[in-house]
Amino acid sequence: MSQSVDIIDQISDMFEQQGQATYLGENISIAEHMLQCAWLAKQAGEPDEIIAAALLHDIGHLLPRQRDNLQMLEGKDAYHQSTGADFLAPWFSRQVVTPIRLHVAAKRYLCAINSEYYSKLSSASKHTLKLQGGAMSCEEIGAFEQQDNLEAVIRVRQYDDDGKREGCSVPLFEAYSETLAKLLR
Ligand SMILES: [Fe+2]
Repeated sequence: MSQSVDIIDQISDMFEQQGQATYLGENISIAEHMLQCAWLAKQAGEPDEIIAAALLHDIGHLLPRQRDNLQMLEGKDAYHQSTGADFLAPWFSRQVVTPIRLHVAAKRYLCAINSEYYSKLSSASKHTLKLQGGAMSCEEIGAFEQQDNLEAVIRVRQYDDDGKREGCSVPLFEAYSETLAKLLR
């Protein structure tokens, strides 16, 4: 139990400290972005797992040993989706972790099947798409659609794309502590 409390405290500290960094090429911080995504999911009446996935989807950018923001700016993909999902996997179910692991793949998928989706991406997101492998190929689309929780993965991606609003005040991390505690394995 104390370990469970520790992990939520640890994540809260990460939001407060590393979360203040600017979110790759956007005019908001990473923490603001993640909090906006969680709030959009909550407002949409999503289940707790999706709210948690939206809240934590970019945690890979906050991990102390990751220098991926810098690497991304230098033109190299640091796979924050995998490092973040691996970090959370011991603590949360796959309903929470899979949308996090696949949020970059979901962007590549949506770009492949919907040209309008690409045109609506922020310019930073268009830039990182190139580093992340671009739009999916036909084979990749086929494999991706086999996901049993495809819809949830896509919804988290849509909150990710929408949660980039400047000057938008939303509840802080503590508003979700209880939800996260209930979801812990
Ligand atoms: Fe994001």
